[in-house]
Amino acid sequence: MIKRKGIILAGGSGTRLYPITLGVSKQLLPVYDKPMIYYPLSVLMLAGIQEVAVITTPEDQSQFQRIMGDGSRWGLKLTWITQASPDGLAQAYLLAREFLDGAPSAMVLGDNIFFGHALPNILKRADEQATGGTVFGYRVADPERYGVLDFDGENVRGIIEKPVNPPSNYAVTGLYFLDGTAPERAAQVKPSARGELEITSLLESYLSDGLLSVERMGRGYAWLDTGTHGSLLDAGNFVRTLQERQGLQTGSPEEIAFENGWISRDDLLKIAEPLGKNSYGKYLRSIAAAKNKT
Ligand code: DAU
Repeated sequence: MIKRKGIILAGGSGTRLYPITLGVSKQLLPVYDKPMIYYPLSVLMLAGIQEVAVITTPEDQSQFQRIMGDGSRWGLKLTWITQASPDGLAQAYLLAREFLDGAPSAMVLGDNIFFGHALPNILKRADEQATGGTVFGYRVADPERYGVLDFDGENVRGIIEKPVNPPSNYAVTGLYFLDGTAPERAAQVKPSARGELEITSLLESYLSDGLLSVERMGRGYAWLDTGTHGSLLDAGNFVRTLQERQGLQTGSPEEIAFENGWISRDDLLKIAEPLGKNSYGKYLRSIAAAKNKT
């Protein structure tokens, strides 16, 4: 099986967060103690993915590069791709066609934050599926803001983008495991009424071929929204509450790289060095020390 590659879609204009996003990309805003993009990046890393394409606007790319570089300090290989205008999520597969080169992919939206004890297990299950696609359904109170699953009993019969009358409370989260046919299928997608190449149309193509699996993320997961000023603050507070209580980080690429054996203890300490005595630096040093004892 060809190794799955990752895509982080981190373009878009972020208009809902104006005036903050007039000067900086939404996906670089802080979610408590880390840039937003660390969280979706961590999800791909938890899925064991090391080759990742990051798609940004042309204007914002250099700022992302300042933070993430070529990814080697996390044991990753990053490829940088620009999206000239936000023409839809499915366009990512056209832009990343060469990068993917026939490989299956996991695409995550740069503003999606996931948390859950069993996350690595469901990611592993999705990764093991060589053909077709897997998406994750999450129960929300306001489904009309998302792509929504339409069920026929236990089976999914459709996915509707921002329905006025949602057929269920299950939103499709911004994490898509698709096989190597995604770019070909994306090329068939026609722009929607709002002029975008919709991810839901691409998913419908898999669904109509009987090739889409839907995993429900149950109550034990958090899928956080960062789409409004209030929900961005809530997401930061959620991360803070969790981290302070547990003394563990969520969404730390350094920790995952270390746990995955992609970087050494010395590498980890080197990254911690310029962070000085701040809490993130202290944390990285503490996991390096703990691992040393065992
Ligand atoms: O978050 C999950 C939802 O994401 C799904 O349930 C929907 O089916 C899907 O269409 C999408 O809905 P949104 O309304 O949240 O999409 P939005 O236009 O806000 O874009 C999501 C992220 O992707 C955002 O951070 C900006 C980025 N983006 C968006 C578009 C349209 C791009 O980088 N390029 C684009 O062309």
